[in-house]
Amino acid sequence: LLGSLRSSSADSYVLSDDKGLGRDFDGIGGLSGGGATSRLLVNYPEPYRSQILDYLFKPNFGASLHILKVEIGGDGQTTDGTEPSHMHYEDDENYFRGYEWWLMKEAKKRNPDIVLIGLPWSFPGWLGHGKDWPYDFPDVTADYVVKWIIGAKKYHDLHIQYVGIWNERNFDAKYIKLLRYTLDKSGLEEVRIIASDNLWEPIAQSLLLDPELSGAVDVIGAHYPGTNTVPQALKTLKKLWSSEDYSTFNDDVGAGCWARILNQNYVNGHMTSTISWNLVASYYEELPFGRCGLMTAQEPWSGNYVVSHPIWITAHTTQFTQPGWTYLQTVGHLAKGGSYVALTDGKGNLTVVIETMTHDHSVCIRPPLPAFNLTSQTATFNLQGSFVSPDKLYTLLLLRNHLVNGSFTLDLAEDEVYTLTTITTGTKGSYADPPPSARFPKAYKDNFNDPPFSEASNFADQTGVFEYFMNTSDPGPHVFTMRQVVTQRPVTWTADADQTISVIGDFQWKNLTVTCDAFMENVKNGGVFIAARVSKGGEEVRRAKGVFFWVFANGTYSVTSDIGGCGHSSLQHRSFTWYTLSLTVQGQKASGTLNGKLLWTSSVPVEPPNGWAAIGTASFELAQFDNFSVVAE
Ligand code: GAL
Ligand code: CA
Repeated sequence: LLGSLRSSSADSYVLSDDKGLGRDFDGIGGLSGGGATSRLLVNYPEPYRSQILDYLFKPNFGASLHILKVEIGGDGQTTDGTEPSHMHYEDDENYFRGYEWWLMKEAKKRNPDIVLIGLPWSFPGWLGHGKDWPYDFPDVTADYVVKWIIGAKKYHDLHIQYVGIWNERNFDAKYIKLLRYTLDKSGLEEVRIIASDNLWEPIAQSLLLDPELSGAVDVIGAHYPGTNTVPQALKTLKKLWSSEDYSTFNDDVGAGCWARILNQNYVNGHMTSTISWNLVASYYEELPFGRCGLMTAQEPWSGNYVVSHPIWITAHTTQFTQPGWTYLQTVGHLAKGGSYVALTDGKGNLTVVIETMTHDHSVCIRPPLPAFNLTSQTATFNLQGSFVSPDKLYTLLLLRNHLVNGSFTLDLAEDEVYTLTTITTGTKGSYADPPPSARFPKAYKDNFNDPPFSEASNFADQTGVFEYFMNTSDPGPHVFTMRQVVTQRPVTWTADADQTISVIGDFQWKNLTVTCDAFMENVKNGGVFIAARVSKGGEEVRRAKGVFFWVFANGTYSVTSDIGGCGHSSLQHRSFTWYTLSLTVQGQKASGTLNGKLLWTSSVPVEPPNGWAAIGTASFELAQFDNFSVVAE
């Protein structure tokens, strides 16, 4: 009786391929970079690092992502840090910097079919010939980007399938055509171009007006489209992707956002791929957009990580479809709110994903979400066309399902995702709980003698790039050091500081001693600093406050309360040599020593009361650091 009552009040929907299919599905992805969002992942101890990677990439286990998009590092600040370029200088090429190569290889190990995408945010300064603009010498820029793709293949056996233009900045039609030409003449005809990783316009209109440009571009990638597209974009007949989306704190509301947009980007906006910024929140949480990743892995020192809900929301789609499947035309909104999509592999398999996210539990960071109503409801889905025989339909997370005569009826609650599928390989993967969360160690040392990657563990570069370096000629203790290598302001994506800086440690640190050896390679105008209580990084790095202790090659030193501060005092020492700087901050007092001798004491402002430790240089200049240590209270 109950059953019949329920079905009489049920809304009904048809799932059919009778009138043909919809668009090809291109996959769900995660974005590492834009910028430095995987910084802390690389130095997780095993087995935790592999577990995190499994939750992200292993098929039939967790998020089981179809796509990995990475930043093509350009030495500039790109949200949560800088990522190194493969060409710091015009005559320089190195395809072993940073961690994106490693990440792509780990992803591919787990899923050999994973689709790889590269996109630049910033570019090294030489490429702009002094201008903050990458298109005045489009051949140079195209060559630079194509080299990265060739390097991926040559040194890492990574096949980059798609490349973008300039993240959320202007595109240039001449450059896009030249990029296409350069790819083709390098034997990379199969690498496809996404444009323009910004809004739908003006790229859509430009493609309609310029057939040559249209021939060069395969995919229109829009960011944070709010599940909608525009008529001009549809007119291009190009694939439409949400090539960056989500960016929302990864709690239940973030998971709701992700569930809603994964379905509705297709239902409303005909988008056949959605890529999450970011893949995994592996950066200090106090940097901009803390924890806006599909999961959280921001404590390599403890091994703790959190498999956040967006991972399982992702699984509802990714484990039961693959790129190459096709959406049915019969997708849409549910009568009482929410949406459903259906996909087929064309060989009889069918996957239906239904989401019933309420407004307040699915707000994304942007754009604003207009009000809508959603209530619990009963829905009957009638299978037609080649899906008439439903005997293979399995269910995941399915409540009170009735499957009778080619139709099934579901009671749909609020804020749920339901997957109904013929695919039987999906699982909710799990590992034993990782170690408990812990603060950054209060006593920390690094002598930079033991490079695991090109950059030192836990240091998060916010302007400039700090790399392991070997002084082959150094007779003394400084053979292996960390060196700031960016010598020119990059073609920026956001407001890099005029100084370089790498932060480390616990943002809550108040009272501490930071010690570091430093060597200025710029004999005349060099300058280095160590700092405590550093209050800002990321896109706000120019406004970083703290206690900064500077030593300059011209024989002066200074103490400032912000990164841009000036004021020099005279130094006794002045030589082309290593110095040992030490800074102690205790309450409202600070003191600095040079080579073990007290150089100054001073009072410090009340604000900021806490922050990271840091090292850096006074300009874009070469300088080396060694034997870094912190002792915090
Ligand atoms: C995007 C940008 C990302 C990141 C994100 C934060 O617009 O491409 O790099 O900054 O915003 O929400
Ligand atoms: Ca060393």
